[in-house]
Amino acid sequence: MTKSTLLEIDKNEACLGMFIHGFGKQWLSSPFALSQFKLNSPAELKALRESSVGTLVIDLSKGVGPANAASAIRKPYHNLPLDTGAAAMAQATGMVRSLFSNAASPAGIDRQQVDAVVDVVDRLVYTRPTTILNLTKLKTKDETSFQHSIAVCALVGLFARHLKLEAKLIRILCASALLHDIGKLRIPTAILAKKGMLTGDEIAVMQTHPRKGYEILARVTGLPDMVGKVCLQHHEKLDGSGYPTGFKQDEIGAAARIVAICDVFDALTSVRPYKAGSTPQAAAAMMATWDGHFDKMLLERFFDCLGLEGPGKGMVTNGSAQTADDTLGLSQADLDDFQF
Ligand SMILES: [Fe+2]
Repeated sequence: MTKSTLLEIDKNEACLGMFIHGFGKQWLSSPFALSQFKLNSPAELKALRESSVGTLVIDLSKGVGPANAASAIRKPYHNLPLDTGAAAMAQATGMVRSLFSNAASPAGIDRQQVDAVVDVVDRLVYTRPTTILNLTKLKTKDETSFQHSIAVCALVGLFARHLKLEAKLIRILCASALLHDIGKLRIPTAILAKKGMLTGDEIAVMQTHPRKGYEILARVTGLPDMVGKVCLQHHEKLDGSGYPTGFKQDEIGAAARIVAICDVFDALTSVRPYKAGSTPQAAAAMMATWDGHFDKMLLERFFDCLGLEGPGKGMVTNGSAQTADDTLGLSQADLDDFQF
């Protein structure tokens, strides 16, 4: 049996040069957008010490150990939720890379491949919800778009279960989340990967991705209508200021409203070429102030789902055993969306 190189230590034992492997179940308290990285800056060390994180897991094979060899707090770390999450992310990333590459070819999207990825992600969401939350932080810089799709799929699966939606609907929502940004395949890489601010013309090109995605999905046989509709509507806002159409309120399907929340949350908490990631708490605080953007009732339920605190202002409080129609405030048209 190989000796574990992972050690759980008190945050006050952290020092520069340590490789942080994770924060266990305290990931939401982490002040960092990434869960695995080398602690190289005094500012990061200060942020860690001032955070509400109690302990962290370090990897001795990738960085220095604690200075105090006699510490009684540190102990070998054998509970490895991040490893499980990383393995799932690696497997799913490979599958999504293949799925997206087929989507760009004349062969198009294979419905069975979509199901297979949803299986991998959804099974983990179902069996290890705490682990799957780490997917939002387990991204590598070179495969951001694939991993964003997977993370949104996982968040939607988790959120949909929290909303007590039917299993069949959860799977369709997950497939919708997985494919919501498929239209970005048709956006030039120079725009997608640009590090600086986009110009007005570039923004206009970028904003064509929902329609381009809808066109791609419309050619796939056997895909529920919801998948294309979510792709088309995921950047619409309730006040009509979204794109590509400027739909308002009930014109935006409930499925698209659910995916929009998870999409933005993952985008805010992710590291991108042009920005550092926000903490989950900071992302939640930001989203709660964007009046007119999200469905506030759903947003509050999303915060409940992740154990995050919304500001409460203008929000509804959460009940526990409500049904879909009285919980979500869905219109009949929205509910019709959910019938397949
Ligand atoms: Fe998008």
